[in-house]
Amino acid sequence: MTGFFITLEGPEGSGKTSQIPLLADYVHSLGHTVLLTREPGGTFIGDQIRKVLVSLDNKALTPQAETLLFLAARAQLVEEVIKPALANGVVVISDRYADATLAYQGYGHGVDLDVLKKLLEFATSGLQPDLIILLDIEVERGLRRKTDCGEWNRLDAYSVAFHERVRKGYRSMAEAAPHIWNVIDANRDRDLVQADMRQAVAKTLKSISPHHEG
Ligand code: TMP
Repeated sequence: MTGFFITLEGPEGSGKTSQIPLLADYVHSLGHTVLLTREPGGTFIGDQIRKVLVSLDNKALTPQAETLLFLAARAQLVEEVIKPALANGVVVISDRYADATLAYQGYGHGVDLDVLKKLLEFATSGLQPDLIILLDIEVERGLRRKTDCGEWNRLDAYSVAFHERVRKGYRSMAEAAPHIWNVIDANRDRDLVQADMRQAVAKTLKSISPHHEG
């Protein structure tokens, strides 16, 4: 039995963290077993790496070191959690995955995209999502949402120009692979956003054959 792998991406403050549990309820109501994962983190080791990555004490972290820490957390999550769940027919919904590294470390910091793609292949053993949902939000609006709810971390503190590059990166990756990406305008009311997410997921669950590795 093989499951489905759905990832949620977006610039800061896109609302994905509050939308994901509602999406999981929906997928569950369709009769699937659902597993939620969150990056960086989701394993005992990954949660420790997350603390290093988000801490405002670690402003000296270089883009290269930052990249490798994200990849280490992901490698652990893929082997320990995601692959076994998919093998058991579970629908895995991840709050960020490999494309976040391309968007933030690649487009945001300027780490070479081809190098990143090779490292991602190594870290994930080539595991790709079946559907990537991009909750697209204007940068200033998203950052305002995050400051308003007091969840400010080291990565949010990068410049607005950095976050604009991240958003642009996400949008260009989505444009280049429309068969796997679904872009949703997250500047709107959260019920409308959730409805669009459910529609995208329903379509994927119906139309594609279950997940295959490699
Ligand atoms: P979150 O805001 O979704 O909890 O994600 C934590 C931060 O980590 C967010 O600023 C995005 C950033 N991030 C990267 O820079 N690269 C990555 O590969 C991942 C997974 C997240």
